[in-house]
Amino acid sequence: MERRGFLKTAVASAATALVFGRRGALAQQADSHIEILVDEPIGAIAPEVYGHFTEHLGSVIYDGIYVGEGSKIANQRGLRSALIEKMRVIKAPVVRWPGGCFADSYDWRDGIGPKDKRPRRTNFWTDSFSEAQRKQNIPQIYDPNEFGTDDFVRFCKLSGAEPYIAGNVRSLTPLDFDHWVEYCNSPKGTTTLAETRAAAGEPEPYNVRYWGVGNESWGCGGNFDPEDYAIEYKRYTTWVPSYGVNLRFVASGPNSDEQAWTRGFFNKLFHGQPSRDPHGVWGLSVHHYATNLSRGKSDDWNASKGDALKFDPIDWYELCKESDRIEKIILDHWTALGEFDLEHKIKLVVDEYGPWYRPGTENSPEQLLGQQITVRDAVVTGLTLDTFNRHAEKVGMAACAQLVNCLNSLFLTHGDQFATTPVFNVFEMYAAHQGGTAVRSEFSAPEVRYDRDAKPASFWGLKGSASLKGKTLTLTAVNPDVSQPRQAEIMLRGAKPVSAKAWIVGDSDIHAHNTLGQPEQVKTRTAEVSVRGGSLSFTFPAASVVKIEVQLS
Ligand code: AHR
Repeated sequence: MERRGFLKTAVASAATALVFGRRGALAQQADSHIEILVDEPIGAIAPEVYGHFTEHLGSVIYDGIYVGEGSKIANQRGLRSALIEKMRVIKAPVVRWPGGCFADSYDWRDGIGPKDKRPRRTNFWTDSFSEAQRKQNIPQIYDPNEFGTDDFVRFCKLSGAEPYIAGNVRSLTPLDFDHWVEYCNSPKGTTTLAETRAAAGEPEPYNVRYWGVGNESWGCGGNFDPEDYAIEYKRYTTWVPSYGVNLRFVASGPNSDEQAWTRGFFNKLFHGQPSRDPHGVWGLSVHHYATNLSRGKSDDWNASKGDALKFDPIDWYELCKESDRIEKIILDHWTALGEFDLEHKIKLVVDEYGPWYRPGTENSPEQLLGQQITVRDAVVTGLTLDTFNRHAEKVGMAACAQLVNCLNSLFLTHGDQFATTPVFNVFEMYAAHQGGTAVRSEFSAPEVRYDRDAKPASFWGLKGSASLKGKTLTLTAVNPDVSQPRQAEIMLRGAKPVSAKAWIVGDSDIHAHNTLGQPEQVKTRTAEVSVRGGSLSFTFPAASVVKIEVQLS
């Protein structure tokens, strides 16, 4: 506490004068200070925190991940090769599938066996398309089930990721759930379902560890009350055959900050008694989308949305604020969990997050919920990932919604066209945190002040996270100010820097983004970091996400 307080009153305190006095000219110019407490670990950053989400929604699967085995587009058994290659670059650790809302309408049996025998089904999202579109027999609307469990697991394997499957609680039974686990995990040559899997060319079990028990069960997943869902949760998770796999069940959690759901669910599941036994829950799913850009004028789901490309600096800061709510959401649910889960064995799983804009910037009409991704989205993704790092002991897994052609996508595709987005650049930079030990970091910087429709408003000026792996310290940070760079003095406590290098994602144009026609508008650039004595000095450009890697002695 003392050191934190020290930093917050940096300029005034005698200790600061002493410390910064040693730095000379650079320190005097600094308007911001970062203190990294290398000897104060928070916890290990689970690689799974850098996960992704894919749903049979618009063109996430068809025309996104899956192009078909006979396609002229480079593919591996129908899976888009260019996308797989980039998944490896970001070290994608885990992928969630098949939804989302779609999950509670999906019969996994539709997606196995010979592809030409699979049924075509009305997709969960069909009613979101126009009447004219609904007359078209396209896979985004009438799902041919060409992409099923085998294809998903193959996509994960090729990408180097683990599968995370969301089960159907609303419209299938616990026995169907058991059988899906059996299809995936029963050993070679044992069950009928293992033989069916072998007939698809996959005799060895998939050993799927992560299983979601429904999705948004308060809404599209069944409109349950938390207490009723707790009863269902027990039915779906009790005595599921493990096949030697340490199954990790994720309970459907609240919408954003609705703590009543968390308390109601755990109160019922734990019979009103706090306990050391997690009652079969490995993780609690939390979803938070940054949607409301109405500046407090509306709570209407559609009317309050902003535009992905047409925005001013105030919209930028409003999106930052909406995204930044994730920190309070994490803290609030962690507190609620702690009232029941005495040893905090249950982790938070933020398996849907990102900005959600109004329709209109998608690359093609069938790309439902497709939107363009600018540097603004890179900035809010960086601040979200930094928040997860700062709460490494609480967040066990996360998934950015969604991977391709959708909300906060890393990739855009259409036919043979392919582009990465600035969110991809952020994941590429932040991969260095995976598996590291999060260490405490404190930021002190002038606030961003702006005029919110004739009322003064503010947002923090510089924030981030730090982690340690061997002798490498990784610091990532976001400067959300659209016009002011932040000149920062970075002090390390408990370690000595030898050298440092920076990577920057940002652009002087806050609307900068890649398109299918111009896929390289936004690039990650490198920069020098000045190292002197026990501290570093670096200027964080306006509207940017930065990674600094420091080699320690
Ligand atoms: O990501 C789009 C949708 O948002 C998901 O299907 C659902 O879980 C959430 O409401």
